[in-house]
Amino acid sequence: MESVLIEFENRLNQINTIETLAQLRSRYLGRNGVLKEMKTGANLKKLTAEERKQFGIQFNLLKSKIREMVENKQQLLGQGRPANRVDLTLPGERSKPGGLHPISQVQEEVENICLGMGFMVLSGSEMETDYNNFESLNTPADHPARDMQDTFWLDNGKLLRTQTSANQVQTMKKFGVPVRAVFPGKCFRYETTDATHENTFYQMEGLVVDENITIASVIAVMKRILSAVFGRDVTVRLRPGYFPFVEPAFELDIKCLICNGDGCSGCKQAGWLELLPCGLVHPVVLKNGGVDPDKYSGFAFGLGLTRLAMMKFKIPDIRLFNSGNLRFLEQF
Ligand code: DAH
Repeated sequence: MESVLIEFENRLNQINTIETLAQLRSRYLGRNGVLKEMKTGANLKKLTAEERKQFGIQFNLLKSKIREMVENKQQLLGQGRPANRVDLTLPGERSKPGGLHPISQVQEEVENICLGMGFMVLSGSEMETDYNNFESLNTPADHPARDMQDTFWLDNGKLLRTQTSANQVQTMKKFGVPVRAVFPGKCFRYETTDATHENTFYQMEGLVVDENITIASVIAVMKRILSAVFGRDVTVRLRPGYFPFVEPAFELDIKCLICNGDGCSGCKQAGWLELLPCGLVHPVVLKNGGVDPDKYSGFAFGLGLTRLAMMKFKIPDIRLFNSGNLRFLEQF
């Protein structure tokens, strides 16, 4: 028995493929293998009962040893139990590519339209001075219009901008006139949130200052931008509004794209959707920007990018945008 084991071991040591291991296994453990032969060999008949019993014990030991050695070798050759096996037919793990946030998509789209109309695309600071955010925009400290925008004040005396309008005067000072620019960005208001209110949202401000800018210019430019955004001709109308930095100030509405003005649930039966405020730049603001209001005039608009994304993608709750919820974001 000893010699059988030694011989097996020697052969096993020379083996380095699964195929030859299988051959060796069947040679020893197979139906006509070495072990089977030992068990049925003629010599066995000559043994006494006691000797036969001893043989049986030794034989079983030998068999389980050989089995164990075959298994160990199998694992060593990388084809052990199924759990250790690499199944090359399994599909690979799919890595999900990232995508642009729906607001970024809308922002990029409007930026491109404006670039095509000769606008510069600028970005301002999210932390602003009181002067840029309010004072320069004809909104001094005691002005009631400040109540329209609850503000996050910072320890350093500055604030988180409540509106991208904060860039109007800075842009005129920096670039002079004539000027044509849009400034998209994040704005902040100290508000309680609900389905239509957020403390952090996106606007895109537009500013055009030149000679002979009139209300007709506002209508023409807004119509071009909005028709491109919605991919079809839109009808706009102006209603009077109020903002201290534009005079006259307007609320611009578009005719409902769903019912074409007849009234439906999308426009709450009004036939029109309130889209953005705009107006002619107030002479005080032009002066603050170093521009002569007797020679130049301008218009400004404040497009709510977050609102636009809600309309475009039919998103019912504004809070979804900043939720970081992947199940929401993966849809865009
Ligand atoms: N900044 C205003 C707001 O956030 C929106 C606005 C109104 C911007 C009129 C403008 C404008 O440029 O002309 O409520």
